[in-house]
Amino acid sequence: MAMRFSIYMLLVLSVYFISNCPVNLAHRNEDDPTIKTMEEFSGYPIHESHFLNSLSSLSVDAETLQKQIDELSSFSDSPAPSVTRILYSEKDVLSRRYIKNLMEASGLSVREDAIGNIFGRWTGSEPELAPVSTGSHTDAIPYSGKYDGVVGVLGAIEAINVLKRSSFKPKRSLDVIMFTSEEPTRFGIGCLGSRLLAGSKELAQQLEKTVDGQNVSFFYAAKSAGYMNVEKLSTVFLEKGSYSAFVELHIEQGPILEEEATSIGIVTAIAAPASIKVDFEGTGGHAGAVLMPKRNDAGLAAAELALAVEKHVLESGSIDTVGTVGILELHPGAINSIPSKSHLEIDTRDIDEERRNSVIDKIYESALSISKRRGVKLSEYKIVNQDPPALSDELIIKAAESASQELELTYKKMISRAYHDALFMARVSPMGMIFIPCYKGYSHKPEEFATIDHIADGVKVLALTLAKLSLS
Ligand code: GLV
Ligand code: MN
Ligand code: MN
Repeated sequence: MAMRFSIYMLLVLSVYFISNCPVNLAHRNEDDPTIKTMEEFSGYPIHESHFLNSLSSLSVDAETLQKQIDELSSFSDSPAPSVTRILYSEKDVLSRRYIKNLMEASGLSVREDAIGNIFGRWTGSEPELAPVSTGSHTDAIPYSGKYDGVVGVLGAIEAINVLKRSSFKPKRSLDVIMFTSEEPTRFGIGCLGSRLLAGSKELAQQLEKTVDGQNVSFFYAAKSAGYMNVEKLSTVFLEKGSYSAFVELHIEQGPILEEEATSIGIVTAIAAPASIKVDFEGTGGHAGAVLMPKRNDAGLAAAELALAVEKHVLESGSIDTVGTVGILELHPGAINSIPSKSHLEIDTRDIDEERRNSVIDKIYESALSISKRRGVKLSEYKIVNQDPPALSDELIIKAAESASQELELTYKKMISRAYHDALFMARVSPMGMIFIPCYKGYSHKPEEFATIDHIADGVKVLALTLAKLSLS
């Protein structure tokens, strides 16, 4: 009886998904003999409304999911409620083990690539077709929160559980991916894992000589975390078309969904991020003895450049242009010593790439003119990354939209101002993102919070979207 029930559910769900799937390439034909056979087998006409009832079987185990989010947050190098989880640290390795165990417990076959991108696969009935993928990251910047990225990894594993519990059977295989180092914290560049998956030869070359703030090389750090083949970076690259779709679930990290009491955000585009490193060098000296006209203060050059960043961003005239100086270091860092060296890291983004690029040009001009006027040397001006924006795929947007409608959840289309691994997955696969509200839009700080009900809604929309894409 149990066996018959689950086969029945399988058919009901599969047929429901196929018949309602906006990305279904094969148009439904009422005379289709397969449909007739399915109707005979199930004993029900397959287009009647009671098939909608099967959607209520998409139930999220919210209690377990919350417990997992809390457990994962305990792998942290800063006190709760903050979370700090840096690439290849002991806590990062623990969180990787935790994710792999959960993937295995969900029946996924797990593999890791040379830099530790983790893939958990649910093999579909047509494994030769390009799979559908989903996932996010679990690394966390210093003193951040426990939802950024984590919701898209634990939520993706739970989405698989949801589909398994509802007896759904995928046609295309489904991959859950935990990406290595979405955050730029340790090696100064974000989305290491997804950038490499997208085939960035430039990054692969750069990583051969990259060191962290303690002069530990990328290769050494990766090997210490157990990735002994890390030098074979080109093995990480994916061919374009390796996936038929990639969908990332994430907290919004902005206030719009909460303010508008909307359950789901469907991302149409991801803004273009860029980051720049700047070093100034002056002669330093005694804070009392060197008179003001004789100084060439590297610290003041940095301060002036930070203000110039703000000025150029505001001059763009668009609310979509943003700029931040999140790192500003002075050497030697003594109250009674004029800074002889300064180091800034500048982050600037815009949904409009040209406008963002013109801000970058102006920042460079300011750095040159400040160094000339203050008699300090501009010893480094390096654009670390200058990425284009990415557009979501229309068919994935439609799949997420109809999933939200069928689940009777309010949704809106929106852009992502934060970057995500999805920005780089878009280079090898059609891409889409699903946002959920978070408290006051807080993110990258310990107060980051999302309710388990919102998370569960996001997981359901993800599960249904994956099911539709898997059958397409
Ligand atoms: C991602 O963490 C970002 O900075 O947008
Ligand atoms: Mn983040
Ligand atoms: Mn994130």
